[in-house]
Amino acid sequence: SFRAVVFSGIAGWCYLTWLVYKESNPGKQIPQSEFKESGNKKKNIVILGSGWGAISFLKDLDTTQYNVTIVSPRNYFLFTPLLPSVPSGTINIKSICDSVRTIACQNTGEVKYLEAAATDIDPVKKTVSIQHKNQRFLIGDAFTADRVPIETTLDYDYLVYAVGATVNTFNIPGVYEHASFLKEANDATAVRQKIFNQIEASRLLPKDSDDRKRLLSFVVCGGGPTGVELAAEIKDYIYQDLSKFIPGIENEMSVTLIEAQHNVLSMFHPRLIEYTKDVFKQQGLNLKVDTMVKKIDDNNVYATYRHPDGKTEDVVIPYGTLVWAGGNKQRDITTKLSSKIIEQSTARRGLLVDDYFKLDGDENIYAIGDCTFTTNPPTAQVAHQQGSFLANHFNKQAKIDDLKYLISNSTDPNEIAKFNKRLERTLKIDKPFEYVHQGALAYIGSERAVADLTWGDWSTVALGGTMTFFFWRTAYVTMLLGIRNKIFVVSDWLKVGIFGRDCSSNE
Ligand code: FAD
Ligand code: NAI
Repeated sequence: SFRAVVFSGIAGWCYLTWLVYKESNPGKQIPQSEFKESGNKKKNIVILGSGWGAISFLKDLDTTQYNVTIVSPRNYFLFTPLLPSVPSGTINIKSICDSVRTIACQNTGEVKYLEAAATDIDPVKKTVSIQHKNQRFLIGDAFTADRVPIETTLDYDYLVYAVGATVNTFNIPGVYEHASFLKEANDATAVRQKIFNQIEASRLLPKDSDDRKRLLSFVVCGGGPTGVELAAEIKDYIYQDLSKFIPGIENEMSVTLIEAQHNVLSMFHPRLIEYTKDVFKQQGLNLKVDTMVKKIDDNNVYATYRHPDGKTEDVVIPYGTLVWAGGNKQRDITTKLSSKIIEQSTARRGLLVDDYFKLDGDENIYAIGDCTFTTNPPTAQVAHQQGSFLANHFNKQAKIDDLKYLISNSTDPNEIAKFNKRLERTLKIDKPFEYVHQGALAYIGSERAVADLTWGDWSTVALGGTMTFFFWRTAYVTMLLGIRNKIFVVSDWLKVGIFGRDCSSNE
């Protein structure tokens, strides 16, 4: 009835307002201290990173039980699934970033944050060396100059290692020098600025010039989900918005996606791969599969195309803007850490951990997310579940430690028996990690998305199309960690729906 609708509307608004109020007005935190209420000594946890793994761990950790310090060169959490929507201007970068301090304030126990990168770990002394890149801001100027970095060392009882991975260039000549990436917030804004720089430059050249054509060529290398989503977003942008402000640009500007394997989105159902290829064809997006990039210079991508009969052919693809999305590799700090632990000597693709994410060969370091090598893929979904699991494991471990402490410090046999019973129960519920795959989603352009959805062990559904696009949007809004980000993202989509994306290079 009408009354019920009005009532639920009001209740919904009240709930939303309360959530916003709670997020922006966190309560006073309990300060860090040497001892817990039980009298037991508090242990120090140092968390490295502020990405999916680290933040999910922090959110679920009972920070009254430990003294927690989070160290990351990035003072915000970045919601990577919507990063490919930033260069096209569909999403404002601020809408998908959430400050580490805002997140840390939601915990009951105080959490310290240090903006620094870990440079070395000593597993024997249980210390981590960290470095803050000290920059001097030149007044009235956007430029910064590096000063001598500030360095210090932190002691830990437990180190939660969640530094993620970096981009793999496979040492292909020219990638570092000429390509952009799509890994961090500033990568996305840099790609947008590059596109506009090339568009504006091309306007000064004659229509039939090869250089103009090259400047208007947008090339993405790597047909994994990052490359596919970015190419699709840029193609949408050209057709749906740029064409209104720069008439004819849709016929001049090209988007090319280069993939070494026979298929893009290889982790998706074959039907969805074919569907993606069809959508790309309709959109006029140049998809070059079986094409392995070998070299990149200032103006061209050099690749080898493998014909169906196995013969190869050299191809040259001119570009104005180039993005490399060739996948992940370990960070140098991770390689350095694994070289210090004998049990990690075979860890080529990531740190080796047990079912509780404890590093093989070390009792005090735990690793989660893209820096590990497990049976699970390097995704946000995995890092999020691992972080949450590890926090609960630490929460239980705190209880276990307290009960052991109380048992050893008590003289009353009844109390000891009671604590022993509780200890037995707590030990029983500490089960190893099991990943629950909920499916994979990707945006493929023209308001269409693909989804491989899984419900437990019994059902997998492969969907593609406009309804899937709405599902994709709903799922991502749900996944966004803070209420503030949810509101910003929805309003970005509304703004684009009403006014279209803007066509200036600023973010
Ligand atoms: P990250 O989230 O990368 O976090 C690593 C953190 O460590 C960062 O805060 C970094 O600043 C910090 N750090 C780096 N070096 C140091 C150091 N030396 N010391 C201290 N801290 C350090 N996955 C999905 O499941 N669904 C998606 O839709 C999806 N979309 C994606 C889109 C893009 C464009 C990209 C790039 C990835 C996407 N992913 C997606 C993958 C997902 O983002 C990663 O799997 C996930 O971020 C891994 O989490 P993590 O915590 O291991 O690392
Ligand atoms: P990826 O590893 O999934 O894909 C990289 C692609 O680049 C591969 O298909 C590879 O064949 C290709 N490639 C590598 N070298 C090449 C060369 N020389 N020439 C041509 N092609 C080359 O990397 P991506 O897309 O960055 O994803 C990284 C991780 O993040 C994955 O685990 C992915 O599942 C996850 N992710 C998930 C998303 C989603 O679910 N929507 C979105 C983005 C990332």
